[in-house]
Amino acid sequence: MKRKIDVWDYAGTIMKAVETGALVTVKANGKVNSMSIGWGALGIEWNTPLFIAYIRESRFTRELLDQNPEFTVNIPLGECDPYILNLCGTRSGRDTDKIAELGLTTVEGETVSVSAIKELPLTLECRLIYRQLQDVPAVAEQLRAIHYPEPYDIHVAYYGEITAAYILE
Ligand SMILES: Cc1cc2nc3c(=O)[nH]c(=O)nc-3n(C[C@H](O)[C@H](O)[C@H](O)COP(=O)(O)O)c2cc1C
Repeated sequence: MKRKIDVWDYAGTIMKAVETGALVTVKANGKVNSMSIGWGALGIEWNTPLFIAYIRESRFTRELLDQNPEFTVNIPLGECDPYILNLCGTRSGRDTDKIAELGLTTVEGETVSVSAIKELPLTLECRLIYRQLQDVPAVAEQLRAIHYPEPYDIHVAYYGEITAAYILE
């Protein structure tokens, strides 16, 4: 069952989880792929509630997202096996079916073609409305040195309109 939530009532829960690790799931060409994220933002722009994911250009997730502009954000609630975030954050969907390897339970999305994941039950369904390659020279020098050594692997900010928010129960 999908219990609908008001995303702003859960803003703290979502952002605290992102800080320690959550998943972004994408789907294209019959492939479903999840990657761990530690960065993200909840916000409003163009009168639209948004989740912004920051995904480096090199990620397989970026390739799938550029083919099918939809994603889900999967937030753990309570106990979550650290191995899930570890595997999804160190292996690439290019050579591993991470969902199958972890035995994760996918649940069909409501407003997007991408699934939710039962084991990380707080779900944001998102439809891409804007993307922007980060402007590396505009990043403060001390951060640039840490996050963008040459050759650059730049983050793309993917702005997803939140089209549904719920907890899988
Ligand atoms: C806790 C954690 C947080 C991460 N956060 C991000 C992130 O916000 N953006 C990013 O591009 N990569 C992040 N990564 C790295 C990707 O998850 C990792 O490179 C992953 O293997 C990419 O998978 P893919 O090639 O299937 O897309 C994180 C890794 C971990 C373990």
